[in-house]
Amino acid sequence: MSARLIDGKAASKRVLAEVRERVGACTAKGVTPTLAVVLVGDDPASQVYVRNKGRRAADVGIATRDHRLPAEGTTTASLLQLVAELSADREVDGILVQLPLPPHIDADAVLLAIDPAKDVDGFHPDNLGRLMLGQPRFVPCTPAGCMRLIEEAGVDPSGKGALVVGRSTIVGKPMAQLLLAANATVTVAHSRTVDLAQEVGRAEILVAAVGRPRMIRGEWIRPGATVIDVGINRLDDGSLVGDVDFEGALSSAGAITPVPGGVGPMTIAGLMRNVVASAERRARG
Ligand code: GUN
Repeated sequence: MSARLIDGKAASKRVLAEVRERVGACTAKGVTPTLAVVLVGDDPASQVYVRNKGRRAADVGIATRDHRLPAEGTTTASLLQLVAELSADREVDGILVQLPLPPHIDADAVLLAIDPAKDVDGFHPDNLGRLMLGQPRFVPCTPAGCMRLIEEAGVDPSGKGALVVGRSTIVGKPMAQLLLAANATVTVAHSRTVDLAQEVGRAEILVAAVGRPRMIRGEWIRPGATVIDVGINRLDDGSLVGDVDFEGALSSAGAITPVPGGVGPMTIAGLMRNVVASAERRARG
């Protein structure tokens, strides 16, 4: 058996086409959906992410305001001041502070200062709390994209055993909440999990979000499982691989996301969807 590929690029195009239409409707009402992007320092991966977000926003008609700040000279206080200004700016619908922030900046304080109604990343405690209560406003973009890909694969999580590997605030924890809300029986594995192979072997839905190249062996995967690989790891030879041994998984999984071309494009599409949803609230007044 060879697993079906879940095409994140194609799925993201469908999401972006919907977003483009909704952006057009907002613009027709005099509201230009606007995303403010804050990047501190010169981390190369962050620069790539921010550039891609800017391009995608332009593609769908979302305006961006870039705030690129040097690591040296930017303090927690100055960043809090900027975030307060953006939060108060009527014309800004979404605020994205690219993570990781330099270590001398208090990232928790900065995220807490973002107006939760503009927190298009969904990282503010208000939005994470709402997700846990089953009253989501902004859902973090990567887990939202993973749920959409599970749906695209034709899989209903209800009653299924799901394993999330990784417990980050950005992916693992919200992912577990979304799967739970969709009535899966959810397990979260992490660095202290004793027998990861056994946990993986039980999972009908597997979401891998650890950031370690090919850490999940193909032979561990339960036959027919739906595999969502969030990892994007660059090897020394320059190639990109996921957290799952893709070649090995092909013979056991029922469906699997490739890397690249799986979850990655869905994350940016999810961000754009959150921005237009915020602008629609502004347009309704
Ligand atoms: N760094 C890595 N992923 C993300 C993300 O989704 N949002 C932000 N703001 N920073 C990130």
